[in-house]
Amino acid sequence: MKKLFCVAILWTALLSALGPTRVANAAQNKQLEVFSWWTSGGEAMALESLFQAYKNKYPGVEVLNAAVTGGGGSAARPVLQTRLAAGDPPDVWQVHPGHELFGQYVQGDYCVPVTVLYRSEGWDRVVPQGLIDRVSKGSEIYAVIAGVHRGNVLWYNKKVLEKYKIEVGDTLSFEQFFSAAQKLKAAGVVPLAMGDAGLWATAQLFENTLLGVLGPKGWQELFGGQRMFDDPRVKEAARLYGRMLDYQNADHSALSWDQAVRRVIHGKAAFTAMGDWAYSELVKAGLKESHNFGWVSFPGTEGTFLVVADGFTLAKDAPNIAEAVAWLEMVGSKEAQEAFNALKGSIPVRTDVDKGKLDIYQQWSMASFQHDALLASCVHGEAAPATFQRELNDAISMFVADRNVERFTGALVQAAGASGLLK
Ligand code: GAL
Repeated sequence: MKKLFCVAILWTALLSALGPTRVANAAQNKQLEVFSWWTSGGEAMALESLFQAYKNKYPGVEVLNAAVTGGGGSAARPVLQTRLAAGDPPDVWQVHPGHELFGQYVQGDYCVPVTVLYRSEGWDRVVPQGLIDRVSKGSEIYAVIAGVHRGNVLWYNKKVLEKYKIEVGDTLSFEQFFSAAQKLKAAGVVPLAMGDAGLWATAQLFENTLLGVLGPKGWQELFGGQRMFDDPRVKEAARLYGRMLDYQNADHSALSWDQAVRRVIHGKAAFTAMGDWAYSELVKAGLKESHNFGWVSFPGTEGTFLVVADGFTLAKDAPNIAEAVAWLEMVGSKEAQEAFNALKGSIPVRTDVDKGKLDIYQQWSMASFQHDALLASCVHGEAAPATFQRELNDAISMFVADRNVERFTGALVQAAGASGLLK
């Protein structure tokens, strides 16, 4: 009964926030707390563009940036969980679709649907249904998607490759990568810059290798529980991942992902494997796409788009509900989507954005999104429960040290069973 009463109050608050008075509500001496893990140079710059757009519209609202440093959100999520469990939620927070959204926040009753916004703002007409489905349960939608990253990209410094007469075409196979890497290593150049101070970065290298070996069908079978983690193809991927690791920088575990990108920016390394949030670091450093740097699908993954979508969800007991709703409306607006994604490296989710405003990389990524197989990332929360992700990180950290394929895949089989992934 009490719960029903609370939900009724929340809905009244949400609906009134959507009414004509909302701008007035968000006018004076108000606050809005936004939680994310966007703190690298490029991420912070993109987040700031959202803050600016919001402040321009609601100058009376003080925006509190509650970002917690650490790529991939591995440091941020525990902080958020502690706050949510203590009844101290930020108004809105960054979230990935799928398991992360539903397993950690919807199931825990920490956030409320924003379905009504999709109707009032007309997003249901301009956001592809496939994306809406990723943040929906039943008839309710639980997040506003700010942009979609492509997780399976290999970036390179053009000048370095030119110097060593290495050409990268429209695709790059594993063997082509290894032959380039061998040449670079022999010349004393670090072939692959990695920064796995946050384990997720090397887990992502494995994830991409796995996708490159399994292909879209195998990927869906694996994360749909129809293929085991000790499948011969998974073992093959583990071996290839081990070979990749042979070409990384010796100090990889001391660097963050963006410090690794900087190695490529400064020509200290040739390649880095990273989702396209790396793009914002490259551009922020003043590098020109296609001139100073290039990209290609991670080996074996051409024709697939590993989706890493970033959304914001609304706290159930948001302390500043009107301001929070105004934030979500702004994030979903055409203007904000164009400005934010240009800086972030992701693509807007709205089909009505001015594509002429997108740069070469984004056009490439958007074409891939339209034509390729769309798959959910495990490392970025969508394809598997958080418990599996944590076990994967542990298994990866062991594998980096011992390269024992049997032990590694055995640990993943166990983790898949224990986390409910096989159901
Ligand atoms: C992902 C997130 C991206 C980017 C990246 C590195 O999980 O979706 O927006 O921030 O982490 O921090």
